[in-house]
Amino acid sequence: MTDKLRLGILASGGGTNLQSIIDHCAANSLDAEIVTVISNNPDAGALARASNAGIPAQIINHRDFSTRDEFDRTVVSALQSAQVELVVLAGFMRIITDTFVTAFPNRIINIHPALLPAFPGLNVQRKAIEYGVRFSGCTVHLVDGGVDTGPIIMQAVVPVLTDDNEDTLAARILVQEHKIYPRVIQLFAENRVKVTGRHVYIDPAPQAASGVLVNPALDD
Ligand code: GAR
Repeated sequence: MTDKLRLGILASGGGTNLQSIIDHCAANSLDAEIVTVISNNPDAGALARASNAGIPAQIINHRDFSTRDEFDRTVVSALQSAQVELVVLAGFMRIITDTFVTAFPNRIINIHPALLPAFPGLNVQRKAIEYGVRFSGCTVHLVDGGVDTGPIIMQAVVPVLTDDNEDTLAARILVQEHKIYPRVIQLFAENRVKVTGRHVYIDPAPQAASGVLVNPALDD
């Protein structure tokens, strides 16, 4: 049996993405183990989820640091002490510095609740509704020095419905987040993620998406 990929998960909020990764690990559908959960928010629901699953968790509160860099250096050293191989940002609401990015080159991934490069940043489900797009979704990408700008690994698309509000759209997107994030982690576990500049290749390549989506649906 091969060694499991050692994951360090960073979360600031409720932690449903963390939970989905915990559940996939428990079901043995991921060749990975979560070796540490780190939160910058002492009240994060993610901490309780880690504790319920018996996963070591730590709070590193950004408010205890005077600079982003100092905070990031502390997080990096916690991840290194846990011998983390892949850093997974799961609702981690802090911008990370070059110090962090260079410590884990092409080994930090993030999930974002929009189809990047549309709607980077915060409150993106609301922005998608306000803009009037017919589709939104989620994006798993490598983290580089920018805000939600790194090379894209996988995306899932959902329709935006006329009576959606930000909560209903967020919930529809979350269902897909919980599917694609574990899938991408498994690709890392299988060492199938290759990066050339802005392009990410999966080797060997899985089947490409087929079909075209139109919303509102054509009635023929
Ligand atoms: C998820 O929708 C995730 O995509 C988003 O925060 C939510 C966290 O939910 N992340 C970002 O907006 C990152 N900028 P969770 O705590 O239930 O996993």
